[in-house]
Amino acid sequence: MQNSKKRNTWGSRLGIIMAVAGSAVGLGNFLRFPAKAVCNGGGAFMIPYFISLLLLGLPLMWIEWTLGRFGGGFGHGTAPGIFHSVWRKNRFIKYFGIIGIFGPLVIFIYYVYIESWTLAYSFFALFGKYGKLADQASMQNFLRGFQGLENNQYFQGLSIAYIFFLITFILNSWIIFHGIKGGIERFCKWAMPVLFVFGCILLARVVTLGAPNPAQPDWNVSNGFGFLWNPDFSALKSSHVWLEAAGQIFFTLSVGIGVILTYASYLSKGDDVVLSGLTATATNEFAEVILGGSIIIPTAFIFFGPNNIRAIAQSGVFNLGFVTMPLVLNKLPFAQLFGFFWFFLLFLAGITSSVSLAQPAIAFLEDEFNLSRKKAVLIFSILTFILCQGAVFFLKNGVVDELDFWGGTFFLVLFATIEVILFVFVFGMENAWDEIHKGADMKIPAIYKFIIKYITPLFLFFILVSWFWQEWIPIILMKNISLSDRPFILVTRVLLILAFLILGVLVKIAWKNKTKVDNR
Ligand code: PFF
Repeated sequence: MQNSKKRNTWGSRLGIIMAVAGSAVGLGNFLRFPAKAVCNGGGAFMIPYFISLLLLGLPLMWIEWTLGRFGGGFGHGTAPGIFHSVWRKNRFIKYFGIIGIFGPLVIFIYYVYIESWTLAYSFFALFGKYGKLADQASMQNFLRGFQGLENNQYFQGLSIAYIFFLITFILNSWIIFHGIKGGIERFCKWAMPVLFVFGCILLARVVTLGAPNPAQPDWNVSNGFGFLWNPDFSALKSSHVWLEAAGQIFFTLSVGIGVILTYASYLSKGDDVVLSGLTATATNEFAEVILGGSIIIPTAFIFFGPNNIRAIAQSGVFNLGFVTMPLVLNKLPFAQLFGFFWFFLLFLAGITSSVSLAQPAIAFLEDEFNLSRKKAVLIFSILTFILCQGAVFFLKNGVVDELDFWGGTFFLVLFATIEVILFVFVFGMENAWDEIHKGADMKIPAIYKFIIKYITPLFLFFILVSWFWQEWIPIILMKNISLSDRPFILVTRVLLILAFLILGVLVKIAWKNKTKVDNR
């Protein structure tokens, strides 16, 4: 069932590593990670986090690079085709692969909108639009006005936010339109270094802050770091903290959702995946733990102290990044420039991730329906543009949170479980081990054979079961959602189910067409 059309390929090894790292390093590193770490007790979060990295994140990174490269060899760049290539005898496995297109689509719909805020704030910072705001309440109002949650002295309606959303959306489409090598790779190759330079400048600024509040000498940089790094073993007993840590690892590495599968499908047979996967993971962890953790957390700690920082993070995932950070930077010399560095760093991190979220759907249309890139991007852009409106206009009704739960949390774990089972039990561990090492520059330590075969699936199983146990019923019944928001959430769920079913029908049609072609 080899595809007749010649598939795209990456230009260079550095290029694909930059692109995968670009996908991984995103808003999750700089906004989600600090918020999760602070809410889950700082140092208490880091132990389950690192254990999840070693037992889930890294194995899945290798599995996805390997499965992707394998499926790409058969002309398939998305999970339905890749799963089918692994387990040809099973007629149903391709339908499980739908999650690998659906999940990224769901994340894309809200991710692009949040990304557009960072572009808007880059301009606001540079032109001093929030420069005079000096307390939490006014900065919070500024954000709420911008998001359209209220009309106030700063913003009336959503028009400014919508303009930035349009610009961001068009930029995304433009990059994807130029393809794997000419668009995504080319963009990531300059965006990633710039992002790291901005990150290092901000980090240098933070570590030289000292203890700016004379009344609170304990609120200093070293205690700020201690907040994240002093380990607290008591949290290991809390299954909630484990779930949060594992979820963050998936989200931040972009694994368990199909995106890396698609990127890796553009590799050639002999391309190394072991070292490349490891390098991409290490780059992401540097950006998350060293930059993401060291910029926002110590800064907020120094200015607001250990108790307030928790309250700020718990009051909303965007507060640390969009309220506390600009507020603190406003107090420093060159506030406009540093504010711009911060938000433009977020924007670059965001856009290199969102283009990766678009790629599975595009690849699906190209590979399975033989559409040209132009047509595939056009269809994708029109459809997602319509779907994005829900995130833009119904943010206040919790639509973004709902999409984030399904796309950014639940399906990641489910899909990862399916991938591991396929890899270990259908592909067979010996086979899989050989496949990983084809063209490899280094060998994975043998202990990982054991980890991938037993620990990773068991760990995933444990996470899924404890989820069902603790959170399933309230989620299904919308227990934590206000009565007035329930209709919006219900409509979102119905639309999600519909989208899933449509993808199912498309898979069916694609395979039917293929069988016809094969029988001819
Ligand atoms: N890893 C990205 C981040 O940390 O922001 C988000 C993401 C991108 C998740 C791509 C999943 C994905 F497939």
